[in-house]
Amino acid sequence: MWGYLWIPILFSLSKEFSSVEAQSKILLPSQRQRQQNDAVSSLSVLVPRCPVPDSKLNYRPVIGIVTHPGDGASGRLNNATNASYIAASYVKFVESAGARVIPLIYNEPEDVLFEKLELVNGVLYTGGWAKDGLYYAIVEKVFKYGISPETLQKNLDLSRFFKMLTTSADEDNKVYVSTVQAYDYPVTAFQWHPEKNAFEWGSSAIPHSEDAIEVTQHVANYFISEARWSVNRPPAQKVLDNLIYNYRPTFCGKAGKGFDEVYIFT
Ligand SMILES: *[C@@H]1O[C@H](CO)[C@@H](O)[C@H](O)[C@H]1NC(C)=O
Ligand SMILES: *[C@@H]1O[C@H](CO)[C@@H](O)[C@H](O)[C@H]1NC(C)=O
Repeated sequence: MWGYLWIPILFSLSKEFSSVEAQSKILLPSQRQRQQNDAVSSLSVLVPRCPVPDSKLNYRPVIGIVTHPGDGASGRLNNATNASYIAASYVKFVESAGARVIPLIYNEPEDVLFEKLELVNGVLYTGGWAKDGLYYAIVEKVFKYGISPETLQKNLDLSRFFKMLTTSADEDNKVYVSTVQAYDYPVTAFQWHPEKNAFEWGSSAIPHSEDAIEVTQHVANYFISEARWSVNRPPAQKVLDNLIYNYRPTFCGKAGKGFDEVYIFT
């Protein structure tokens, strides 16, 4: 009796699953592109193919992350005056899109920093960050404080350099520029935190919805896809010697404020 009752239920469930599966196959980015092209040329059958790797692209991208002064935890972890830190969420963000991280410790001797810059294909400046994949220009942290779209447009230096991608409203409903991208350089700056949604849990203001996680992943994928255009091919051993895997992060999420994990450099 029960078996008889159960079978149709299972059957209808599995039917439902298989139709869902048919609609949302997991596709590689290159296949998605092809599917769009196929749709345009009215070829309705998707033939899954993997393209040959593009020899122009660097499939072993390395990203430098610049450290910030302090321990990232208001002295709970380290009070050394020369301490600096990287929130581990930035590292995970970069890794999730297929790259490795070298910490750029801001107060290290300049020659050491320049040597490390030779090893990377892009740079992430935390806390209002910017990136740099192709050329390697030094990026200024222009957007430490919010500016309105009007202010950006009126400032010709800014508006000629940056295209406004998004605006947001603050708690007082004042609109500020929240994402900008350079017209002529591989530089994008965010006045929000794409890395937190998937990797930080200390504040209830951080969204963890599926949409929010996709935003994190999408921005990471975009960042690293730009870095793959970098022609820099650093020596493998030197990269290994400087990777963030030579350091250990500290879990500080139990304090319930700030970052969940941080790397501290002293
Ligand atoms: C850092 O200094 C503060 C204030 O003196 C103190 O409360 C805290 O325990 C210190 N942190 C560490 C890791 O020693
Ligand atoms: C920080 O200070 C310690 C102790 O004086 C020193 O050993 C270390 O090299 C310094 N680190 C940096 C990054 O300046």
